[in-house]
Amino acid sequence: MLDIKYNLAKTHKEKPDQGKLGFGVYFTDNMFIIDHTEGIGWHDARIVPYAPLSIDPAAMVLHYAMESFEGMKAYRTPDGSIQLFRPDKNAERMINTNKRMCLPSLPVEDFVQAVQALVKAEADWVPSQEGTSLYIRPFVIATEPHLGVRPSKTHQFIIICSPVGAYYESGINPVKIFVEDEYTRACPGGTGFTKCGGNYAASLISQVKAHELGYEQTLWLDGVEHKYVEEVGSMNCFFKIGGTVYTAPCVGTVLPGVTRMSCIDLLRHWGIPVSEERLPIADIMKASREGKLEEVFGTGTAAVISPVGELRYEGEVAHINGGKIGEVTHKLYDTLTGIQWGKQPDELGWTVKVN
Ligand code: COI
Repeated sequence: MLDIKYNLAKTHKEKPDQGKLGFGVYFTDNMFIIDHTEGIGWHDARIVPYAPLSIDPAAMVLHYAMESFEGMKAYRTPDGSIQLFRPDKNAERMINTNKRMCLPSLPVEDFVQAVQALVKAEADWVPSQEGTSLYIRPFVIATEPHLGVRPSKTHQFIIICSPVGAYYESGINPVKIFVEDEYTRACPGGTGFTKCGGNYAASLISQVKAHELGYEQTLWLDGVEHKYVEEVGSMNCFFKIGGTVYTAPCVGTVLPGVTRMSCIDLLRHWGIPVSEERLPIADIMKASREGKLEEVFGTGTAAVISPVGELRYEGEVAHINGGKIGEVTHKLYDTLTGIQWGKQPDELGWTVKVN
């Protein structure tokens, strides 16, 4: 159990218009910080005014990308209360990321306590308009000033919050996805399963390429053969072909998304067959040509459930479900958002109240 000291902001920023939040543009009044020192462990948990960090220019995070992060949300329910969605899963994933990145981790209960404490302090910032939420960004950085390449002896775990609307400007309308066949996101033994900034930095070149071609995001193929579908830049990806829903297995190169695992649970609960076998992109394009590619959607904390209307691979374009959101995609969206925003009973016990 953390002993958190409070030194909250004395002045409050003006709250943005809830209809124009966008994603990750506005930040709340306070942030959570805890320090980690080799030989001492975690110490000095505090909630302090949101402000620029004072960091040594030689801090290892700035040179060797020694950092990890998480993404989660706090939701305003119809009765005005606030809830989190499976926060323990984010805490567990961060522990797995940090092991791979030689970063220290907070125990699951301390991670959840820190998130709860900050969201409670920032309760006024949790928006209530349809589709909005408070995005929570916990992250760990290596702060030791040192240019030799080795694990850092000092770190900070920080949480900031941002009131958000839809991740994509298109909202729930289908996005267009470009299948990357040149660059690689992840290889076996690499960091593909982690949530580390470097994975996202290395993906940008493809995102820029996708944008130039008029596509919103990149769908990555496996790094060895460029044959099997893995994940989209900020989402896991699902394909419904001939009644079965396929998604890439989490075998080290794919991020184990909390929304991904929740969708798999819901689909199985509804008796819809789900396959986590590796799926070749060629099979998806063939299914499209034969009219068997029924639905494609992405899942993620930021993106929620995002229908995909178009896939472009090696110059060939697959149009999915006439550019309309599919039936299963819609049901998943309604159920998941219903549970997250407290509009539907949480039979699976996934939500955790904050206040
Ligand atoms: C999330 O869905 O929370 C993510 O972390 C995606 C992101 C990089 C915006």
